[in-house]
Amino acid sequence: MPRVLVLNGPNLQRLGTREPAIYGTATLADVERDLRAAAPDGVEVELRQTDDEATLLGWLHEAVDTGSPVILNPAAFTHYSYALRDAAVLVPEAGLPLIEVHISNPHRREEFRHTSVVSGVATGVIAGLGVDGYRLALQYIADRLPRD
Ligand code: DQA
Repeated sequence: MPRVLVLNGPNLQRLGTREPAIYGTATLADVERDLRAAAPDGVEVELRQTDDEATLLGWLHEAVDTGSPVILNPAAFTHYSYALRDAAVLVPEAGLPLIEVHISNPHRREEFRHTSVVSGVATGVIAGLGVDGYRLALQYIADRLPRD
């Protein structure tokens, strides 16, 4: 069964209570439940979160090794982690989509958020549409999954 990995970086386990005026009140558990409900039959969704850069890199390597499309919210790593970029590029290089998602629109926020070191290697980027961005990314991926 095709599996989509939904990978989330630092502080995103705080969704729901973290700066709700910016990120809304949905929790990551809500996001996972909605994605599973939206996934077409036969498509598995696995959502993970870590504050640890090395763990996130390992999950991207795992996506390559298992042929899993990725929805990635790199959170603050977006803005400075070249290691994350170097791992992220392996996903599209393996022929798998990697969609970068941001709940807020970083371009409307502080200057340091205007740079993403990941966008240049992502298949596509969704930002500023709240947690709906995850579902839209899943829809894009699901529409393109090979069918048997
Ligand atoms: C974020 C935006 C980042 O700038 C921030 O560091 C986050 C969340 C977003 O989803 O809007 O943690 O990636």
